[in-house]
Amino acid sequence: MKLNIAVLPGDGIGPEVTAQAVKVLKAIAMEFNHVFTFNYGLVGDSAIKKTGNPLPQETIDICEKADAILFGAIGNTAYDIDPNAQIRPEQGLLRLRKLLGLYANIRPVIAYEDLLTKSSLKKSQIKGTNILIYRELTGGIYFGKQALSEDGNTASDVCEYHRYEIERIAHLAFKAAQSRKHKVTLVDKANVLESSRLWRRVVQEVAKQYPDVTLDYQFIDNAAMELIIKPKQFDVILTENMFGDILSEEASVIVGSIGLLASASLGENHQMFEPIHGAYTKAANKGIANPIASILSAAMLLDHFGLDDEADLVREGVDKSLKLHITTPDLNTKYDNISTTKVGDFIEDFINNPDETNLNFTNIHLGQSTII
Ligand code: IPM
Ligand code: MG
Repeated sequence: MKLNIAVLPGDGIGPEVTAQAVKVLKAIAMEFNHVFTFNYGLVGDSAIKKTGNPLPQETIDICEKADAILFGAIGNTAYDIDPNAQIRPEQGLLRLRKLLGLYANIRPVIAYEDLLTKSSLKKSQIKGTNILIYRELTGGIYFGKQALSEDGNTASDVCEYHRYEIERIAHLAFKAAQSRKHKVTLVDKANVLESSRLWRRVVQEVAKQYPDVTLDYQFIDNAAMELIIKPKQFDVILTENMFGDILSEEASVIVGSIGLLASASLGENHQMFEPIHGAYTKAANKGIANPIASILSAAMLLDHFGLDDEADLVREGVDKSLKLHITTPDLNTKYDNISTTKVGDFIEDFINNPDETNLNFTNIHLGQSTII
């Protein structure tokens, strides 16, 4: 298969983790005789620094022409502490999502057997957790009208949803549940918000078309607690933009590190694959950023194009790296010298020689060549 992949490494740890995902995709292309081409674009703070614009036209062009986009991370703490900055890195990502119509953000939350002790939650509580979060990505408070009064004393962000925005992601969530445990939990704040009541109404209508799927409801405040105390009750979580942002980051506690959570952002004509974590500026260029979320996002890219064996091989490589403790310091207590690049090298090596990786492990651990 020929795939033209746009790569937007972004800011902070984005470039180093994305480089590992590209490495893995190149290994897959080689192993399975695919032709993947990679075109790089600037976004976020790195784009502001070079062009003054967090989403330059050239990047938009690269993305529009691509079959898929691999996104790194965005943001810089310098902006986080300056509420007066008019141009902000995040605008690049938000504009891109909106422009390309990437309305459904799918975030899998899976408790890996080998990482159960890494979570601060009890092993018995999290063992077996397998949740798919469907986060609406181009509506709600993220994209509603924003205003600041002239005297600077009053501000507002409107949370607006239209029926069609809810319908289209609800269908995807119900379809996903049909091939899983047949349960959708709608998370909202329908006891307070009018927009949430619209979500309930529309989702209840959509649910009628999926009689084999149970629809259940939780208010966001309660869901935030239930997710931690009883994560196994969830199958597919369907929710609006901001609740999904918060809940998915909370869910990373179950998995053991936010550096493990991948996502796919899907629209009618475009698709982007992005780790759920941010730019983590403090950790940039130290070799400590976990590339697994980015590598698993690449696996979701392969899934999207029906390249199942390829995606499975990437996931097997990830599983193996976790089993052998070839992981970055956020997870590793066994070795202290496993860098971002080494994790990528290990998974690349696994893809090249799935049967021999155990032999190569010692070399990787010692920082020697992995080529045998
Ligand atoms: C995410 C991030 C983004 C979001 C930021 C960087 C704008 O937190 O993808 O979860 O809020 O959607
Ligand atoms: Mg987030």
